[in-house]
Amino acid sequence: MSQLYQHHFLRLLDFTPADIAYLLTLAAELKQAKKAGNEPQTLKGKNIALIFEKDSTRTRCSFEVAAYDQGANVTYLGSNGSQIGHKESIKDSARVLGRMYDAIQYRGWGQDVVETLAQYAGVPIWNGLTNEFHPTQILADLLTIQEHMPNKPLSQVKLAYLGDARNNMGNSLLEGAALMGMELRLVAPKACWPEAELVAQCQAIADKTGAKLVLTEDLAEGVKDADFLYTDVWVSMGEPKEVWKERIAQLLPYQINMNVIKLTGNPQVKFLHCLPAFHDDQTAVGKQMAEQYGLHGGMEVTDEVFESEHSIVFDEAENRLHTIKAVMVATLGKL
Ligand code: CP
Ligand code: NVA
Repeated sequence: MSQLYQHHFLRLLDFTPADIAYLLTLAAELKQAKKAGNEPQTLKGKNIALIFEKDSTRTRCSFEVAAYDQGANVTYLGSNGSQIGHKESIKDSARVLGRMYDAIQYRGWGQDVVETLAQYAGVPIWNGLTNEFHPTQILADLLTIQEHMPNKPLSQVKLAYLGDARNNMGNSLLEGAALMGMELRLVAPKACWPEAELVAQCQAIADKTGAKLVLTEDLAEGVKDADFLYTDVWVSMGEPKEVWKERIAQLLPYQINMNVIKLTGNPQVKFLHCLPAFHDDQTAVGKQMAEQYGLHGGMEVTDEVFESEHSIVFDEAENRLHTIKAVMVATLGKL
């Protein structure tokens, strides 16, 4: 069994740098095996519950495909159609599902929900995104960074994240970078920086791993010499629509556009985004916001950058599958 057998996967700070490195190596091996057509099945006969109180494409599909690839069965529980959170408490649902399933994935609201599931279900709980954290996304990001920079260890990589750094992505990137000894710049107005308590917690880890964590409002300083630029939506799932106006005003100066690419001084700089992205007017929300706020050709990232040779977002999206599979195999698989 792996060193993480029967562990929960709730947030990155629950793990050591060696655990994260182990998951990344396992993900790379599973990816290679799938492509070679000789993937070993370690989850045969396992039953997995997938609770999604918020929408998802990548995370849901990754958990489902990974389960099928590994020989497991899944039950999808959406925001409607079950008793969870409406007529039955999380504590009770955890004890019911824990009697039937071998593991539970949860995407939805507060981190306290995954903690309650973990406390009462008696089976591994996997966090597929909460308001506070998105830990499986970071594994995919780190694997993608490694693949695109095979000659540099993560401890030599400079990553600049622009935009809402107070959300689940900003928080989880901070945790991941601290653990893996990376240089992470969170480039955003102060109002969009992570909570001071989390920054202090991550800085304490950085002091041991050698990570350099920088929070700055200065765009030019923040992106200088970056190997990777990263952004996320300015308004996350579950936030009220009214927030858009304020966020656009705060974050438009931190939009990733060709000028920002130039400011890095690195013609090879790569662009990452967890997706979905507002990079054009093709989606209903994108179109509405573009019209309402006079923004065309992109919000957090311009279409020009998104579609350019700098962009590696679809490699990153594919890696959600391999890294989520690694979490499932490590915590539940018979290795
Ligand atoms: N990046 C990500 O979690 O995508 P989904 O919301 O589609 O799962
Ligand atoms: N911050 C975004 C991430 C989506 C993958 C959200 O929570 O909506």
